[in-house]
Order: sequence, then C-alpha cells, then structure tokens
Amino acid sequence: MEAMTDTQTLYEVIGGASRVRDMVDRFYDLMELEPEFALLRAAHPPTLDNARERLFMFLSGWMGGPDLYVEAHGHPRLRMRHMPFAIGTQERDQWLRAMAWAMEDVGIAEALRLRLMESFYQTADWMRNKPD
Ligand code: HEM
Repeated sequence: MEAMTDTQTLYEVIGGASRVRDMVDRFYDLMELEPEFALLRAAHPPTLDNARERLFMFLSGWMGGPDLYVEAHGHPRLRMRHMPFAIGTQERDQWLRAMAWAMEDVGIAEALRLRLMESFYQTADWMRNKPD
C-alpha cells in the first residue's frame, strides 16, 4: 500500500472499483459459506445479489469514489433501509467479523483495514434495531 496522504481518498488508497468489488464479493461469499455467519445470513433474503450490488455501490461513494449508490437509489438512509431486518449485537458482530475477514482475504493492508473497521463499527452499531 502506498502511504496515505490527506489528498488521497480511501477509494484511491484501496485501489479503485475492482478492489472494492473484490472485498464485497468475498464478504458475501463468506456470509454464504461460513457456519459462524449463519445468523447474519438468516437475516438476509434468499438471494444476496441485491445486497452485493448495493453494498458495492454504497462503499464506492462512502470511500470517496463515484457516488454510485446515491445516483441510482438516492439518499442511503441506511438505518431506515435496515429496519425490515432484525439486527442485534450478534448480527452486528458477525457483519463486522465477516468484513474484517474479507478484507484480509483480498489482501488489504493492515493499516487500511484498521481504519475501515473503525468506521464500519460505528455504522454497524448504529444499525442495531432490536433489543438483545
Ligand atoms: C450490522 C449488521 C448488518 C446486517 C444484519 C445487514 C443486513 C442487510 C440486509 C438484510 C440487507 C438487505 C439485502 C437485500 O434487500 O437484498 C442489507 C442491505 C444493505 N446493507 Fe446491510 N446490514 C448490516 C450492516 C451494514 C453496514 C455496516 C453497512 C454499510 C457499511 C451496510 C450496507 C448496506 C447497504 C448499502 C444495503 C443496500 C440497502 C438498500 O438499498 O436497500 N449494512 N443489509
């Protein structure tokens, strides 16, 4: 990884669209494959195609790249859009664990992974919508 500078976006540091796509694909593959993510998988619809495409589009803009999600779907309103799905601390933690694992698998440098995990934690924690 190149050194992060103030002028570079996370999207540039990570390596652009194909890297964001790799990370999202690995994330949903792990969700599909790994027994430890069964609860998280169960909170999703039968097919993950929609989530796969939308998380890619969202992260593109969220990392400072093309704002694909907003162009296609408008304001993310993520908490509101997650209301149909029951999210407690276990689902939150499985989401974060799967994402940490996916980022490691696709070879994202540690400093960048830690930076992203801090932000993912904030967002995932804010998404909780049921008591444990
Ligand atoms: C905390 C645990 C989380 C759970 C259990 C969860 C679950 C889900 C589910 C079930 C969907 C709907 C998939 C579909 O309709 O096919 C979804 C969509 C989505 N999730 Fe999550 N999610 C979580 C956290 C996050 C986080 C942290 C982010 C962003 C960093 C995120 C970003 C998105 C986006 C962008 C969509 C598409 C929304 C839409 O346009 O409807 N999610 N998520």
